[in-house]
Amino acid sequence: MSLLQEQAASPVDYPRGARILHLGLVLLFSFELLNSILALWLQQFFLFQWHTLAGIALAAWLTLSWLVYGSTRWGRSLLKIWYWPGNARFILADIRRVLQGRLPGHGPQPGLSSWWQGMFLLLASWVTYTGLGAWMVMQGYFAVPGLTHLGLVSMRLGTPILLYFWLGHVGMAFYHALRRQPLWSIFALH
Ligand code: HEM
Ligand code: HEM
Repeated sequence: MSLLQEQAASPVDYPRGARILHLGLVLLFSFELLNSILALWLQQFFLFQWHTLAGIALAAWLTLSWLVYGSTRWGRSLLKIWYWPGNARFILADIRRVLQGRLPGHGPQPGLSSWWQGMFLLLASWVTYTGLGAWMVMQGYFAVPGLTHLGLVSMRLGTPILLYFWLGHVGMAFYHALRRQPLWSIFALH
């Protein structure tokens, strides 16, 4: 059985919580990022009035996500898949596979796509929380020297890096889908 058939034959059954959390991230984060790209690179500010509101919602959603990942068994196993340093060999094996013109693995297992998802989530969280902190300092809720600067710099520099992660993640999702791999079950509504 070829690798493609092997992967196509094993649909990933994502828990309902994982699917709901992911859908929130897809909507809130994609809006925040693409809105920032419009403002930063294309000087289009018609949606930027929603930046802070969407940012607050995103911060709340990310906090919920981290709490769920940390407090459930499947969540903790995901955290281990994403961040356990011992998984480096699986990531390297996937990179070798890509260099040979084959698809990396997908789904909740150690490897390149899981590492990408984990780093994506970590950087998205850093930019969101420092952005939130900067806004709160500017609003006068509290004072932390340097936090406004850190937040603005993180948002400005983080935006293009996050776009790169976003394109890689979404691009690979479509690429897998075109090859009829059933990982779209992350969007299943049942
Ligand atoms: C993924 C998350 C986010 C991204 C990609 C992002 C991106 C950006 C970018 C590119 C800028 C322009 C920075 C500059 O050059 O000065 C900016 C500004 C700003 N962001 Fe964010 N941001 C995010 C999250 C947040 C959050 C969570 C908040 C607050 C709740 C927030 C509030 C602000 C504020 C107040 C500004 C300054 C606007 C101004 O200069 O009038 N952002 N953001
Ligand atoms: C249009 C936007 C998006 C699409 C089409 C998409 C698609 C997908 C697909 C197909 C999977 C399953 C892949 C696999 O298991 O290897 C997945 C998983 C995942 N995605 Fe996305 N995604 C999007 C946006 C995002 C965003 C914005 C984030 C975070 C900031 C994100 C974080 C994740 C994470 C953490 C997983 C693993 C979830 C789990 O195993 O429970 N995704 N995504």
